Amino acid sequence: MDYVSEIQKLKTEKDVAILAHYYEEGAIQDLADHVGDSFFLAKVGQQIPQKNILLAGVVFMAESVKILNPEKTVLVPDLMASCSLVEGAPYDKYLNWRNQYPDALCMTYINSSAEVKSISDVIITSSNAADILETIPKDRRILFGPDQHLGKWLSKKYNRPMIFWPGACQVHILFNAERLKLLTAQHPDALVIAHPECDDEVLKYATVIGSTSKLLNEVKTNLKYKKFIVATETGIFHQMQKQRPDAELIQAPVVDENCKCNDCPFMKMNTVEKIYHALKTFKPEVSIPDTLRQKAFIPLDRMMKITSGQPVTWPERFEG
Ligand code: 13P
Ligand code: SF4
Repeated sequence: MDYVSEIQKLKTEKDVAILAHYYEEGAIQDLADHVGDSFFLAKVGQQIPQKNILLAGVVFMAESVKILNPEKTVLVPDLMASCSLVEGAPYDKYLNWRNQYPDALCMTYINSSAEVKSISDVIITSSNAADILETIPKDRRILFGPDQHLGKWLSKKYNRPMIFWPGACQVHILFNAERLKLLTAQHPDALVIAHPECDDEVLKYATVIGSTSKLLNEVKTNLKYKKFIVATETGIFHQMQKQRPDAELIQAPVVDENCKCNDCPFMKMNTVEKIYHALKTFKPEVSIPDTLRQKAFIPLDRMMKITSGQPVTWPERFEG
Protein backbone atom coordinates (compact mmCIF):
# COMPACT_ATOMS: atom_id res chain seq x y z
CA MET A 1 0.00 0.00 0.00
CA ASP A 2 1.14 3.55 -0.71
CA TYR A 3 0.77 4.75 2.87
CA VAL A 4 1.83 8.31 2.17
CA SER A 5 -0.85 9.02 -0.44
CA GLU A 6 -3.48 7.20 1.67
CA ILE A 7 -2.48 9.39 4.63
CA GLN A 8 -2.81 12.53 2.53
CA LYS A 9 -6.33 11.47 1.43
CA LEU A 10 -7.46 10.49 4.93
CA LYS A 11 -6.28 13.65 6.60
CA THR A 12 -8.18 15.85 4.14
CA GLU A 13 -11.32 13.68 4.32
CA LYS A 14 -11.26 13.64 8.14
CA ASP A 15 -10.01 17.20 8.71
CA VAL A 16 -6.81 16.23 10.51
CA ALA A 17 -3.56 18.18 10.82
CA ILE A 18 -0.43 16.09 11.32
CA LEU A 19 2.12 17.56 13.74
CA ALA A 20 5.54 15.94 14.10
CA HIS A 21 8.51 16.42 16.40
CA TYR A 22 12.03 16.79 15.00
CA TYR A 23 13.02 13.43 16.52
CA GLU A 24 10.63 11.46 14.33
CA GLU A 25 12.04 9.54 11.36
CA GLY A 26 12.50 11.64 8.20
CA ALA A 27 9.56 10.05 6.35
CA ILE A 28 7.19 11.14 9.14
CA GLN A 29 8.58 14.68 9.24
CA ASP A 30 8.12 14.91 5.47
CA LEU A 31 4.44 13.99 5.54
CA ALA A 32 3.56 16.27 8.46
CA ASP A 33 1.78 19.62 8.08
CA HIS A 34 3.92 21.15 10.84
CA VAL A 35 7.26 19.99 12.27
CA GLY A 36 8.84 21.55 15.33
CA ASP A 37 10.08 21.47 18.89
CA SER A 38 7.89 20.69 21.87
CA PHE A 39 6.87 24.33 22.46
CA PHE A 40 6.06 24.94 18.81
CA LEU A 41 3.88 21.81 18.71
CA ALA A 42 1.91 22.91 21.80
CA LYS A 43 1.42 26.38 20.34
CA VAL A 44 0.58 25.44 16.77
CA GLY A 45 -2.17 23.12 18.04
CA GLN A 46 -4.03 26.25 19.17
CA GLN A 47 -3.56 28.05 15.87
CA ILE A 48 -4.59 25.55 13.20
CA PRO A 49 -8.08 25.43 11.68
CA GLN A 50 -8.42 21.62 11.53
CA LYS A 51 -10.82 20.05 14.05
CA ASN A 52 -8.56 17.07 14.65
CA ILE A 53 -4.84 16.59 15.27
CA LEU A 54 -2.55 13.62 14.91
CA LEU A 55 0.60 14.18 16.91
CA ALA A 56 3.64 12.13 15.89
CA GLY A 57 5.91 12.65 18.84
CA VAL A 58 5.62 11.31 22.36
CA VAL A 59 2.41 11.10 24.35
CA PHE A 60 3.13 14.00 26.74
CA MET A 61 3.25 16.28 23.67
CA ALA A 62 -0.17 15.06 22.52
CA GLU A 63 -1.51 15.47 26.07
CA SER A 64 -0.37 19.09 26.12
CA VAL A 65 -2.21 19.73 22.85
CA LYS A 66 -5.34 18.06 24.28
CA ILE A 67 -5.14 20.06 27.52
CA LEU A 68 -4.98 23.29 25.54
CA ASN A 69 -7.57 22.23 22.93
CA PRO A 70 -10.17 20.02 24.65
CA GLU A 71 -12.63 20.39 21.78
CA LYS A 72 -10.22 18.74 19.32
CA THR A 73 -9.73 15.01 18.86
CA VAL A 74 -6.03 14.31 19.41
CA LEU A 75 -4.73 11.07 17.91
CA VAL A 76 -1.32 9.47 18.34
CA PRO A 77 0.29 6.65 16.37
CA ASP A 78 1.18 4.73 19.56
CA LEU A 79 -0.02 5.36 23.12
CA MET A 80 3.04 3.56 24.50
CA ALA A 81 5.38 6.29 23.24
CA SER A 82 6.32 7.66 26.65
CA CYS A 83 9.53 9.42 27.80
CA SER A 84 12.07 8.51 30.49
CA LEU A 85 11.39 11.84 32.20
CA VAL A 86 7.68 11.06 32.44
CA GLU A 87 8.39 7.54 33.68
CA GLY A 88 10.88 8.83 36.24
CA ALA A 89 8.42 11.30 37.80
CA PRO A 90 5.38 9.38 39.05
CA TYR A 91 2.56 11.56 40.37
CA ASP A 92 2.62 10.31 44.00
CA LYS A 93 6.33 10.90 44.43
CA TYR A 94 6.26 14.27 42.68
CA LEU A 95 3.36 15.34 44.92
CA ASN A 96 5.27 14.24 47.99
CA TRP A 97 8.30 16.30 46.90
CA ARG A 98 6.07 19.27 46.00
CA ASN A 99 4.39 19.11 49.43
CA GLN A 100 7.76 19.45 51.17
CA TYR A 101 8.16 23.00 49.78
CA PRO A 102 4.67 24.56 49.84
CA ASP A 103 6.10 28.10 49.67
CA ALA A 104 8.08 27.39 46.45
CA LEU A 105 6.99 27.81 42.85
CA CYS A 106 7.24 24.62 40.82
CA MET A 107 8.62 24.91 37.27
CA THR A 108 7.89 21.69 35.47
CA TYR A 109 9.35 20.67 32.12
CA ILE A 110 6.73 19.88 29.49
CA ASN A 111 8.23 16.35 29.45
CA SER A 112 5.90 15.28 32.28
CA SER A 113 2.53 13.59 32.71
CA ALA A 114 -0.76 15.53 32.84
CA GLU A 115 -1.00 14.56 36.54
CA VAL A 116 2.41 16.05 37.32
CA LYS A 117 1.53 19.18 35.34
CA SER A 118 -1.63 19.51 37.44
CA ILE A 119 0.43 20.04 40.63
CA SER A 120 2.91 22.46 39.02
CA ASP A 121 2.83 26.26 38.82
CA VAL A 122 4.25 26.73 35.35
CA ILE A 123 5.32 24.52 32.46
CA ILE A 124 8.47 25.29 30.52
CA THR A 125 10.31 23.92 27.51
CA SER A 126 13.97 24.37 26.68
CA SER A 127 13.06 27.07 24.15
CA ASN A 128 11.20 29.29 26.63
CA ALA A 129 12.61 28.36 30.06
CA ALA A 130 14.79 31.48 30.34
CA ASP A 131 11.90 33.87 29.56
CA ILE A 132 9.70 32.11 32.09
CA LEU A 133 12.36 32.04 34.79
CA GLU A 134 12.76 35.78 34.37
CA THR A 135 9.14 36.37 35.40
CA ILE A 136 9.42 34.41 38.66
CA PRO A 137 9.88 36.83 41.57
CA LYS A 138 13.46 36.76 42.90
CA ASP A 139 12.31 36.11 46.47
CA ARG A 140 10.50 32.85 45.59
CA ARG A 141 12.12 29.44 46.03
CA ILE A 142 12.03 27.38 42.83
CA LEU A 143 11.43 23.68 42.42
CA PHE A 144 12.55 22.34 39.05
CA GLY A 145 11.62 18.95 37.61
CA PRO A 146 11.74 16.41 36.18
CA ASP A 147 14.93 17.02 34.14
CA GLN A 148 17.78 17.84 36.53
CA HIS A 149 20.26 18.57 33.73
CA LEU A 150 18.10 21.20 32.03
CA GLY A 151 17.39 22.64 35.49
CA LYS A 152 21.07 22.77 36.50
CA TRP A 153 22.06 24.41 33.22
CA LEU A 154 19.35 27.05 33.65
CA SER A 155 20.10 27.63 37.31
CA LYS A 156 23.81 28.16 36.61
CA LYS A 157 23.31 30.29 33.51
CA TYR A 158 20.82 32.67 35.17
CA ASN A 159 22.20 32.42 38.69
CA ARG A 160 18.91 31.30 40.22
CA PRO A 161 19.15 28.64 42.93
CA MET A 162 16.73 25.74 42.47
CA ILE A 163 15.75 22.49 44.12
CA PHE A 164 15.92 19.69 41.55
CA TRP A 165 13.92 16.56 40.93
CA PRO A 166 16.51 13.85 40.09
CA GLY A 167 15.22 12.89 36.59
CA ALA A 168 17.12 12.55 33.31
CA CYS A 169 16.57 11.83 29.65
CA GLN A 170 17.83 8.34 28.91
CA VAL A 171 19.08 9.45 25.48
CA HIS A 172 20.90 12.68 26.31
CA ILE A 173 22.71 11.42 29.41
CA LEU A 174 24.51 8.84 27.30
CA PHE A 175 26.60 11.36 25.39
CA ASN A 176 30.14 10.97 26.63
CA ALA A 177 32.34 13.92 27.57
CA GLU A 178 35.71 12.12 27.27
CA ARG A 179 34.97 10.86 23.79
CA LEU A 180 33.51 14.24 22.80
CA LYS A 181 36.75 15.91 23.86
CA LEU A 182 38.73 13.57 21.59
CA LEU A 183 36.32 14.20 18.73
CA THR A 184 36.58 17.98 19.05
CA ALA A 185 40.37 17.66 18.91
CA GLN A 186 40.05 15.65 15.69
CA HIS A 187 37.69 18.29 14.21
CA PRO A 188 38.90 21.70 15.39
CA ASP A 189 36.89 23.30 12.56
CA ALA A 190 33.56 21.97 13.88
CA LEU A 191 31.06 23.84 16.06
CA VAL A 192 29.73 21.76 18.95
CA ILE A 193 26.00 22.22 19.61
CA ALA A 194 24.03 20.43 22.34
CA HIS A 195 20.60 20.03 23.90
CA PRO A 196 20.49 21.12 27.58
CA GLU A 197 19.25 17.66 28.62
CA CYS A 198 22.91 16.56 28.25
CA ASP A 199 24.90 16.51 31.48
CA ASP A 200 27.16 19.32 32.57
CA GLU A 201 30.36 17.51 31.57
CA VAL A 202 29.15 17.25 27.97
CA LEU A 203 27.73 20.79 27.88
CA LYS A 204 31.19 22.16 28.78
CA TYR A 205 32.31 21.35 25.24
CA ALA A 206 29.31 22.96 23.52
CA THR A 207 29.42 26.49 22.11
CA VAL A 208 25.68 26.58 21.46
CA ILE A 209 23.17 25.01 23.87
CA GLY A 210 19.44 25.01 23.26
CA SER A 211 16.21 23.38 22.18
CA THR A 212 15.93 21.34 19.01
CA SER A 213 14.68 24.40 17.12
CA LYS A 214 17.59 26.51 18.38
CA LEU A 215 20.12 23.87 17.30
CA LEU A 216 18.47 23.57 13.89
CA ASN A 217 18.50 27.33 13.48
CA GLU A 218 22.19 27.43 14.38
CA VAL A 219 23.05 24.95 11.63
CA LYS A 220 20.83 26.81 9.17
CA THR A 221 22.13 30.32 9.83
CA ASN A 222 25.73 29.93 10.99
CA LEU A 223 27.31 29.88 7.57
CA LYS A 224 30.81 30.44 9.02
CA TYR A 225 30.80 26.74 9.91
CA LYS A 226 30.56 23.83 7.51
CA LYS A 227 30.94 21.18 10.19
CA PHE A 228 28.84 20.63 13.31
CA ILE A 229 29.13 18.10 16.13
CA VAL A 230 25.59 17.58 17.34
CA ALA A 231 24.71 16.28 20.82
CA THR A 232 21.04 15.46 20.54
CA GLU A 233 18.74 12.78 19.17
CA THR A 234 19.37 11.61 15.60
CA GLY A 235 15.97 12.61 14.12
CA ILE A 236 16.98 16.28 13.95
CA PHE A 237 19.68 15.44 11.39
CA HIS A 238 16.96 15.10 8.76
CA GLN A 239 15.96 18.79 8.94
CA MET A 240 19.55 19.95 9.50
CA GLN A 241 20.74 18.22 6.38
CA LYS A 242 17.78 19.57 4.38
CA GLN A 243 18.54 23.13 5.49
CA ARG A 244 22.31 22.82 5.04
CA PRO A 245 23.07 20.19 2.41
CA ASP A 246 26.63 21.57 2.25
CA ALA A 247 27.33 20.98 5.96
CA GLU A 248 28.97 17.95 7.54
CA LEU A 249 26.98 16.83 10.58
CA ILE A 250 28.71 14.60 13.09
CA GLN A 251 26.81 12.80 15.84
CA ALA A 252 28.37 13.45 19.26
CA PRO A 253 29.74 10.21 20.70
CA VAL A 254 27.83 8.12 23.21
CA VAL A 255 29.22 5.87 25.93
CA ASP A 256 29.44 2.81 23.75
CA GLU A 257 30.22 3.31 20.08
CA ASN A 258 28.23 0.21 19.11
CA CYS A 259 24.96 1.25 20.69
CA LYS A 260 22.23 3.18 18.92
CA CYS A 261 21.39 4.89 22.20
CA ASN A 262 21.12 8.34 20.67
CA ASP A 263 17.88 7.22 19.02
CA CYS A 264 14.95 7.89 21.37
CA PRO A 265 13.15 4.52 21.55
CA PHE A 266 9.87 6.27 22.39
CA MET A 267 9.95 8.69 19.45
CA LYS A 268 10.96 5.86 17.17
CA MET A 269 7.91 3.76 18.14
CA ASN A 270 5.96 5.84 15.63
CA THR A 271 5.89 4.66 12.03
CA VAL A 272 4.22 5.80 8.81
CA GLU A 273 2.11 2.64 8.94
CA LYS A 274 0.88 3.40 12.47
CA ILE A 275 -0.04 6.93 11.36
CA TYR A 276 -2.10 5.45 8.54
CA HIS A 277 -3.93 3.12 10.97
CA ALA A 278 -4.58 5.92 13.46
CA LEU A 279 -6.14 8.04 10.72
CA LYS A 280 -8.15 5.15 9.32
CA THR A 281 -9.58 3.99 12.67
CA PHE A 282 -9.44 7.35 14.50
CA LYS A 283 -7.63 5.53 17.34
CA PRO A 284 -5.72 5.64 19.60
CA GLU A 285 -7.00 8.91 20.96
CA VAL A 286 -5.58 10.86 23.89
CA SER A 287 -8.20 11.42 26.57
CA ILE A 288 -7.81 13.26 29.85
CA PRO A 289 -10.52 13.41 32.54
CA ASP A 290 -11.99 16.89 32.70
CA THR A 291 -11.04 17.77 36.29
CA LEU A 292 -7.43 16.75 35.64
CA ARG A 293 -7.42 18.65 32.35
CA GLN A 294 -8.64 21.83 34.02
CA LYS A 295 -5.90 21.64 36.68
CA ALA A 296 -3.17 20.87 34.15
CA PHE A 297 -4.40 23.73 31.95
CA ILE A 298 -3.43 26.36 34.57
CA PRO A 299 0.40 25.94 34.43
CA LEU A 300 0.37 25.30 30.67
CA ASP A 301 -1.70 28.43 30.13
CA ARG A 302 0.78 30.40 32.28
CA MET A 303 3.52 29.27 29.88
CA MET A 304 1.43 30.39 26.92
CA LYS A 305 0.63 33.75 28.51
CA ILE A 306 4.23 34.52 29.53
CA THR A 307 5.58 33.60 26.10
CA SER A 308 3.04 35.89 24.43
CA GLY A 309 3.93 38.78 26.72
CA GLN A 310 0.82 38.71 28.93
CA PRO A 311 1.04 39.28 32.70
CA VAL A 312 0.49 36.35 35.09
CA THR A 313 -0.04 36.03 38.82
CA TRP A 314 1.62 33.41 41.02
CA PRO A 315 0.01 31.51 43.91
CA GLU A 316 1.39 32.37 47.37
CA ARG A 317 1.46 28.72 48.50
CA PHE A 318 0.87 25.24 47.16
CA GLU A 319 -2.44 24.10 48.55
CA GLY A 320 -2.37 20.51 47.24
P1 13P B 1 12.59 20.20 22.46
O1 13P B 1 11.63 21.00 23.27
O2 13P B 1 13.91 20.88 22.31
O3 13P B 1 11.96 19.82 21.14
O4 13P B 1 12.94 18.86 23.24
C1 13P B 1 12.02 17.87 23.52
C2 13P B 1 12.68 16.64 23.95
O5 13P B 1 12.03 15.68 24.29
C3 13P B 1 14.13 16.60 23.98
O6 13P B 1 14.57 15.34 24.34
FE1 SF4 C 1 12.06 11.87 26.53
FE2 SF4 C 1 14.65 11.88 26.06
FE3 SF4 C 1 13.01 10.79 24.30
FE4 SF4 C 1 13.08 13.48 24.63
S1 SF4 C 1 14.71 12.15 23.84
S2 SF4 C 1 11.25 12.19 24.46
S3 SF4 C 1 13.45 13.59 26.84
S4 SF4 C 1 13.38 10.06 26.40
